Amino acid sequence: MGSKAHSARKRMLSNIYSKSFLQSSDTLKIISHTMIYDRLLPVLFEAASSGSLIDMYDLNQAFTMDFISAFIFGLANATNFLQDVPTRKFMLQKYHCRKDFEFYYQEVPNLLAWTEALGVPLLPKWYHEANELMAAWNLALCDNAEKHLGSNEPDLEPTVYKQLKLSMAKQLASGSDSSSVKADEIKLQRLEIACEMYDHLTAGHETSAVGLTYLCWELSKRPHLQAALRKELQTLSPAVTYPITSHSLHSLPHPKLIDALPLLQAVVMETLRLHAPIPGIQPRTTPYPTSSLSGYDRIPPNIRVNAQAYSLHRNPEVFPDPESWQPHRWLKEDDSAELEEMQRWFWAFGSGRRRKRSENKLMHEESVEMKLVVAAIYTNFLTTIVDDEGIEATDAYTVKPSGHKLILKFELI
Ligand code: HEM
Repeated sequence: MGSKAHSARKRMLSNIYSKSFLQSSDTLKIISHTMIYDRLLPVLFEAASSGSLIDMYDLNQAFTMDFISAFIFGLANATNFLQDVPTRKFMLQKYHCRKDFEFYYQEVPNLLAWTEALGVPLLPKWYHEANELMAAWNLALCDNAEKHLGSNEPDLEPTVYKQLKLSMAKQLASGSDSSSVKADEIKLQRLEIACEMYDHLTAGHETSAVGLTYLCWELSKRPHLQAALRKELQTLSPAVTYPITSHSLHSLPHPKLIDALPLLQAVVMETLRLHAPIPGIQPRTTPYPTSSLSGYDRIPPNIRVNAQAYSLHRNPEVFPDPESWQPHRWLKEDDSAELEEMQRWFWAFGSGRRRKRSENKLMHEESVEMKLVVAAIYTNFLTTIVDDEGIEATDAYTVKPSGHKLILKFELI
């Protein structure tokens, strides 16, 4: 997609990912309540009570997929990986088995096309089968959401799907009058929307799951910090305690209150600094006619340039002792020059995050969803590491623990 079309698409969706929308949406309130109180906390409570162990990476992927798919397609149409373990194992295996081949599509798409045409495909048959399965699964999610397009019921409303569908329908209406052209356009649009929704599913679920996994890993090494965080979380009104006595929606604190907790914010920022889920290159092409970058002037157009969070986040002048995880480095006066400089170098969410906080219109901004999960876990449990072998990140666009797991013990507080 060209940059004009990309910006137009982004504009269609920016409203529903804005912080003000997310913090006031009734649909998101129901989703959050269901995910935390009906799905996540019962699993953790059961593990803590029985002494069974939790694979936090696996569970985080389930949570983030359920959460984002509910926001995109509607709660009733979304996945339920937290409770349906066999489906989760099957789908996540299909999802991940393709990851090693991402490189070919991103970097050498022509080579792929040539080798396919010559009958010597680079990618195995099972790769294509897994791809087809994921595509069909996503299309079915879209078609189900379509059935509830008219719904404003908070547990049915497909928020993201609906917003895109209605915005794109306007484009159709202003196009050609011929019915056959229109039918073709509708078919094409169904696939375009499915593609966009698949991007959101992957962008929303993988990154947050990885971030949460490293956050739990770091906290699990530090019981004292967990205690300090718990103290802060207990100031929420109401606190995210479990089991709850009433099923009213008021049992979750307002997202604004969660967002305003300084230590929680510091823990999330420091995790995304040291363990950025997308640490590597984010390619861009230079604009016409010339541009200047990092002291280099007159760079011609269409040159690929990259920046990467991994390096920006390890500048020792901005982040002293950069390899160590120190949430307290973020606990500074709001308008301090040091904090502003750290925020300027913080690139876990790529462009749009820099300088002006209000410019970021995605569900990013230190992730509403991540903070909710952390609040739910650390209000109620103490976590310790049982097995973190292979915790070091893979070398990929979106990283993950190379051992594909993080086994934790949960104890009720
Ligand atoms: C810890 C959590 C997350 C991290 C670290 C993260 C990081 C990123 C990064 C680095 C990019 C590329 C930005 C660029 O090219 O400048 C991106 C794009 C994107 N992310 Fe996230 N993300 C997170 C959570 C989410 C969530 C929860 C959603 C919700 C759907 C989301 C949706 C998107 C979308 C739609 C894009 C593409 C934006 C575009 O095309 O311009 N992300 N994310």
